[in-house]
Amino acid sequence: MKTLFDFRDYKQQRRKITMLTAYDYPTALLEDRAGIDIILIGDSVGRNMLGYASELEVTMEDMLHHVRAVVRGVKQGHVMADMPYRSCDTPALALENARRFLAVGAHSVKIEGEQDMVDRIQYVVDAGVPVCAHIGYTPQTSGKAAVQGKDFDRAKALIDAALRLEAAGAGMVVFELIPERLAQEISRLLSIPTIGIGAGRFCDGQVQVYCDILGLSDRIFRHAKSYDTLGRRYEEVFSAYARDVTSGVFPTSENAAALPDDVADQVQSWVRETYGR
Ligand code: KIV
Repeated sequence: MKTLFDFRDYKQQRRKITMLTAYDYPTALLEDRAGIDIILIGDSVGRNMLGYASELEVTMEDMLHHVRAVVRGVKQGHVMADMPYRSCDTPALALENARRFLAVGAHSVKIEGEQDMVDRIQYVVDAGVPVCAHIGYTPQTSGKAAVQGKDFDRAKALIDAALRLEAAGAGMVVFELIPERLAQEISRLLSIPTIGIGAGRFCDGQVQVYCDILGLSDRIFRHAKSYDTLGRRYEEVFSAYARDVTSGVFPTSENAAALPDDVADQVQSWVRETYGR
């Protein structure tokens, strides 16, 4: 398993880092087999798996349940757990919750926020927990999804935040929805790796929500590449199954175990004697 520290070598060697979300055991198993470097249990689990209206509804208990499942599927990759809304309200709470993730097998945690999270991140890192920061659009606090840093003041604030988070000990930083040139500039300034989602080509790695790249939901985002339309395929398969069951096409005798004839005769006589039918 690679630590966040190891990914600095990737940055130096210009070897791009791959990160994907996973929320359950089978997906984690397949991503790990595919050689994904970092498997993130994002708080996007709320919208994508739990049917919540927003990330704000996701609790530590929800996250722990999904982190445990993912950990069981990952043999090679680095497992990162997202700190959900309100889980970092104080430095001490942030550390307590981060330790709960490490206790169930995560290798690092991700914390959303900019200047407001510098003290929390420093506290958690100083206690020995590897942390990835997350700046730009941050679903837990930014409100409606929008590109961040298009004006000079916000761009400066993002640069400043990234440098302060690095100085506080963050081992990696996710940029969500920031302009490509800005992401490139911050990536150049930092020695820790930068991972983009909707932040263009020049980050040190990329992260995507796996449901988006598989085409599992109806939503299409500019920042995502849809490699398939598995949502449609799922629906087709579910309909075919329903048709087969209702029409009697499935199951066939091939899908069932046979009862030996002599046992079948014995059972029938016994039923007749016992129940009279
Ligand atoms: O929760 C999540 O999926 C994330 C990624 C978008 C980085 O935080």
